[in-house]
Amino acid sequence: MSEEILSRRALSIEPSLTLQISAKAKELEAKGRDICNLSAGEPDFEAPNEVLKATSDALSKGFTKYGPASGDIDLRKSITKKLQEKNNIDIGLDNVMITNGAKQAIYNLFQVLLNEGDEVIIPAPYWLSYPQIVKLAGGKPIVLKSHPETSFKIDIQELCSKISPRTKFIILNTPNNPTGKILEKKELIEIADIVRQNKNINILSDEIYECILEKGFRHYSLASIASDIKNRIFTINGFAKGWAMTGWRVGYLAGREDVIKASSSLQSQSTSNVCSFAQKGAIAALQMGPEYFEKINEIYDKRRNLLVNGLNKIKNISFSNPNGAFYAFPKLPNNSISSIDFCKKAIDDFGLVVVPGIVFGDDQCIRISCAASHQKIIDGIERLQKSIYKYYQL
Ligand SMILES: Cc1ncc(COP(=O)(O)O)c(C=O)c1O
Repeated sequence: MSEEILSRRALSIEPSLTLQISAKAKELEAKGRDICNLSAGEPDFEAPNEVLKATSDALSKGFTKYGPASGDIDLRKSITKKLQEKNNIDIGLDNVMITNGAKQAIYNLFQVLLNEGDEVIIPAPYWLSYPQIVKLAGGKPIVLKSHPETSFKIDIQELCSKISPRTKFIILNTPNNPTGKILEKKELIEIADIVRQNKNINILSDEIYECILEKGFRHYSLASIASDIKNRIFTINGFAKGWAMTGWRVGYLAGREDVIKASSSLQSQSTSNVCSFAQKGAIAALQMGPEYFEKINEIYDKRRNLLVNGLNKIKNISFSNPNGAFYAFPKLPNNSISSIDFCKKAIDDFGLVVVPGIVFGDDQCIRISCAASHQKIIDGIERLQKSIYKYYQL
């Protein structure tokens, strides 16, 4: 297709580099190369049996028809209860809608709230889709950098300096993809104060990794800490990461009623309801007790430790320990090689697949996932060390 036929909107979207990297890895694997893939953005285990059963029961009972665009009423009730009881968010049924993954919740929100030229402050490193989704809605991403040397903390003064009369949103993501860092309560309080002082600013709080936490760490929802400005806080979440339900495509958006209504209308004219039987699986996920997360977090803690201990042994890289999600985001020794070139060379020379930091807003870093077996993590670290020592002559 010639470029002229494409809309300006389509032309503004950047192709996914991660897809290029994984296509290359697959091609080499098909040729019989020994590949160690630590690029996964999804859990490496199956969804819980309870979820599988509830989903297949729904299918066999014929729960396969169109449903309400805003979501299955029973799932919306369960999510409302969860947000009230577990997250301490003062919210009602009309403040919640179901979306096709957390991604569609973010997409809908920006489509219904951004006007051409509205600015969205995105702390980096960020999840790679945020800037693209902002641009698709006509918005302008304003990136706020942070660094491993300062534990990827958001610099509050710098945040304030990025605020302009066009600032409509700040995006928060805790625990963070790709750094695995968690926003502390006091940081959230500081950010809430800034929002209080700037009446046009809203917050998108992406909490999709809330259940994947290192022992001793706690997740706080901004909407529970700053209930006086809850009308300007939009909580995003989903079932993909916590319950390994990536393919179910069930997420949700919670916030003020008029925005939920507008977002449901948008959804009714675009994708309609989220897959009916998948939503029944999500209800079963919410019914699972704390033992489920104790079990998976024990596994992730061991893997995170393995990754951190391995990275600690590699000379001349800096990183900040992740305390949530399943990633680390180390900084390469210097900027003589772009993160894309580093990742391409590491696949060619050592069969190691990791994600270039440029897609997360930092071209000197790479993202390594520990959603993989111990053996694979150990193997990947060895290959990473060899790559770094070779390319930086250490
Ligand atoms: C931080 C973050 N937010 C949102 C999403 C989207 O999640 P979903 O698969 O539910 O659309 C992801 C997926 O990788 C993510 O990492």
